[in-house]
Amino acid sequence: MAVTTVYSFLRLAAFFVFALNVSFSTAVKHEGFKTCDQSGFCKRNRAFADAVASSSTTSPYRISPESATFANGQFRATVLKTIADGLTVHLPLNVTFLKSGLARVTLDEERRRTGDIELRHGSKARKERYNESPAWALVGGLDIDFSAQLGEHGNSDVTAIRYGDNQRNEAFIRHDPFSIYFQRDGETQVTFNQRGFLNIEHWRPKVEVEVEEGVEKPVTAEDESTWWEESFGGNTDTKPKGPESVALDVSFPGYEHVFGIPEHTGPLSLRETRGGSQDAFTDPYRMYNSDVFEYELNSPMTLYGSIPFMQAHRKGSSVGILWLNAAETWVDITKKKGTKSKVDTDTHWISESGILDVFVFLGPRPEDLTKALGDLTGQTQLPQTFSIGYHQCRWNYMSDEEVKEVDAKFDRHGIPYDVIWLDLEYTDDRKYFTVDSDKFHNPAAMHAQLDERHRKLVTLIDPHIKNTANYPVVDQLKEKDLTIKNKDGVTYEGWCWPGSSHWIDCFDPKARAWWKTLFKPDFFKFSTYNTYIWNDMNEPSVFNGPETTMPKDNLHHGDWEHRDVHNINGMTFVNATYHALLDRKPGKPIRPFVLTRSFYAGSQRLGAMWTGDNLAEWGHLEASLPMILSLNIAGMPSSGADVGGFFGTPSSELLTRWFQAGAFYPFFRAHAHIDTRRREPYVAGPPYTGIMAQAIRLRYQLLPVWYTAYHEASVDNSPILRPQYYVHPEDEAGFSMDDQFYVGSTGLLSKPVTKEGAATVDVYFADDEIYYDYFDYTIYSKKGFRTVDAPLDKIPLFARGGHIIPRKDRPRRSSHLMQWDPITLVIFLGKSGDAEGTLYVDDGETFDYQSGAQIFSKFVFDGVSSTLTSQDIAPKGSLTDSYRKTMAPVRVEKVIIIGAPAHWADKKHISAEQGKEKMQPKLQFHPASGNKAAWAVVRDPKVSIAKEWKIRFA
Ligand code: GLC
Repeated sequence: MAVTTVYSFLRLAAFFVFALNVSFSTAVKHEGFKTCDQSGFCKRNRAFADAVASSSTTSPYRISPESATFANGQFRATVLKTIADGLTVHLPLNVTFLKSGLARVTLDEERRRTGDIELRHGSKARKERYNESPAWALVGGLDIDFSAQLGEHGNSDVTAIRYGDNQRNEAFIRHDPFSIYFQRDGETQVTFNQRGFLNIEHWRPKVEVEVEEGVEKPVTAEDESTWWEESFGGNTDTKPKGPESVALDVSFPGYEHVFGIPEHTGPLSLRETRGGSQDAFTDPYRMYNSDVFEYELNSPMTLYGSIPFMQAHRKGSSVGILWLNAAETWVDITKKKGTKSKVDTDTHWISESGILDVFVFLGPRPEDLTKALGDLTGQTQLPQTFSIGYHQCRWNYMSDEEVKEVDAKFDRHGIPYDVIWLDLEYTDDRKYFTVDSDKFHNPAAMHAQLDERHRKLVTLIDPHIKNTANYPVVDQLKEKDLTIKNKDGVTYEGWCWPGSSHWIDCFDPKARAWWKTLFKPDFFKFSTYNTYIWNDMNEPSVFNGPETTMPKDNLHHGDWEHRDVHNINGMTFVNATYHALLDRKPGKPIRPFVLTRSFYAGSQRLGAMWTGDNLAEWGHLEASLPMILSLNIAGMPSSGADVGGFFGTPSSELLTRWFQAGAFYPFFRAHAHIDTRRREPYVAGPPYTGIMAQAIRLRYQLLPVWYTAYHEASVDNSPILRPQYYVHPEDEAGFSMDDQFYVGSTGLLSKPVTKEGAATVDVYFADDEIYYDYFDYTIYSKKGFRTVDAPLDKIPLFARGGHIIPRKDRPRRSSHLMQWDPITLVIFLGKSGDAEGTLYVDDGETFDYQSGAQIFSKFVFDGVSSTLTSQDIAPKGSLTDSYRKTMAPVRVEKVIIIGAPAHWADKKHISAEQGKEKMQPKLQFHPASGNKAAWAVVRDPKVSIAKEWKIRFA
């Protein structure tokens, strides 16, 4: 396909010497990425697992009895690994019980800790196993449960420890062979090393064997072929520490479904990766952040980011683990029939290096896991309001005139949008922080037009810095010695968009401090305070590097090898940019907006992510849903896919359907490759443009819903899009569904159309609650699948009875212009006649909400008394009163009650009160017709959103 050819060509042009590696097809370049078999440590650990599984040998790991102690919520011991000839390796073990009900297990290697090893090739790398992932990923949740206590166990070889809420949880630590079983309420939920796959490849010196000519090389017991050096795609990894992987089997007895470990394509309910069912993958799921453009669907291949969090779910229980390791990691998944005809899921986690550091979550509800993960890795950033509006991007708007023209065309077509983006080509010769002034003659006029219409600009800033003369950024980077180094400690040079480049090392605090200086408007002259940032290629992508990334033996700040920190690298870059933006403006800080491609556990604190270079194909639209759901339940809710597909040209139908789906991505941005035809929503013409505009307007109408959902995520990291199993954890029929989802806790259920030519969709309703069609109030009140009409102009969207949602119904050009607009409340009455909902409001820009400048209201409709109340549930602070005064003019202009009782037909007026004010607003009743619910409208009850109020319908 032409598009792909050109894309490959662009990379090729940047990197012509490696032309042989570039193929011209639409498929992902499999040959450029390792399979487990080609990744030494993965292959070794799979082989080890097979050997253990097929023999009667027991695991060589046991706790040294005299070393075990339990005090103050911590079990400590030395695990001894018996190696050939009776020698043992000492592995310090720590099992910590946390107040949150989590347990944390760490295992290190004594000899590495004390530095009692030798590195090969005179390497300067650190001798310890990498133990700084927590410093990047974790922000809290580590308070120890000092009330944890020893429990009873008949076998003296087992230490039992009760912990957590009411000591519901219990860990059984078996000493010989070493294993741990985690129980909740007396039932085993998670096991470690039950299958004996624990493998800590200890440090050993390389024994050089002199081989005389003509004499056969002595055969050693173990296959050392991947221990000391590995080559792939013409690159050689020198592995100065030799083999050092950590691996463990983790089983979830009685759990048929496991979710998480993004980022992969494929179903939300993860597939088996060995043997088993027909649709099993043959490779484990891989997590090694990589630039896998044109990625394939339904694959365990790694993508741009990773979160090593897995959740297991069965009816009535969710449990999980966080495998805190930043090195390349593979996860095998197998399922087997367990006891009582239940299915057990067995997993095998394999990381190349670092310590073993695993958190165990015992739930029991999905939201317990979400909350605990959020307490550990942080909450989702509360974004500026503009960033949850619609974003218009393409590679590239080529001039300031073009930006202004696109901006004007949106207005001409009455399509709202908030942000226009500039990709790579705005720079002078791909030197970040510069601008191509031939194309951008008058940036000031461009900024002024955007400002006037309250729109923002996002520009691309990547981590590779062009290696060229007369470029102050690269000069300073080198002078200050803030680069990532090669294995010899010399500034690493590789190829990316600008050609020869160096990389900033954001693990270095000095580099982060310097990065801040570059964003000041007197340095980044093209930018203004309304310019926000897109961090791409931060896996990092290196066109001539092994697997399109950095050599593993490269060195970072603190002399850690790139191998140890790879999956965190992208997050450190976004972290630097986030803090640079925070610092940019003197005076009151405003919330940064940074989009990233690469991510890790904790990235949710810093901004949004998108799923990289997808294709303009129906399959990619479909695949975006499970991908985004997986990110949402794994703690990275602020996510989206390129609307329209990056490569290729979508048909108008596909583009329209993509806009309808994209209006339900938490991060909603259209993007396109440089060689694709223009496809802004106004290009396609009737009827498509009108339908796309409707989808975008629906997004804007529901901005209060989205912002409230983001607020929830900013408090407890709850998913913004919620899969079926998460909302209905008891309904087994929905556990593997990943093509329909709920928006936050609003009860809005969306099922985007992802099939060409489809005029209907089959929607699944999980219970006998009433579900209403969002647009025409058709009632669905039976559990099960229903085929519903979904012609091109229809987004299948439903509201579950029992919910109240806030909307803003006046069409505007951008979110900023909506801030003073009145609210419409829509009440979808449930079977019981009741409903509830929330609304969160703040200035959408600053951090004042942290000092109480917010409105957080809970709406309750009580069916018995027919009363709707608005209760103030916001935390108060020093700015509460002044903020509430400012917001006093913002009122509820309409209340729409869907499923209104028939006897309201006679009512003409009802009563409302706010403080001492009493009002008698009009009620208009619309009777039920056919299978469409009755509805009623209260117009202008004259209540402000800034204070509590009541409306009585009785
Ligand atoms: C990468 C990004 C893509 C961007 C391009 C040029 O391929 O994934 O979104 O347009 O680089 O910067």
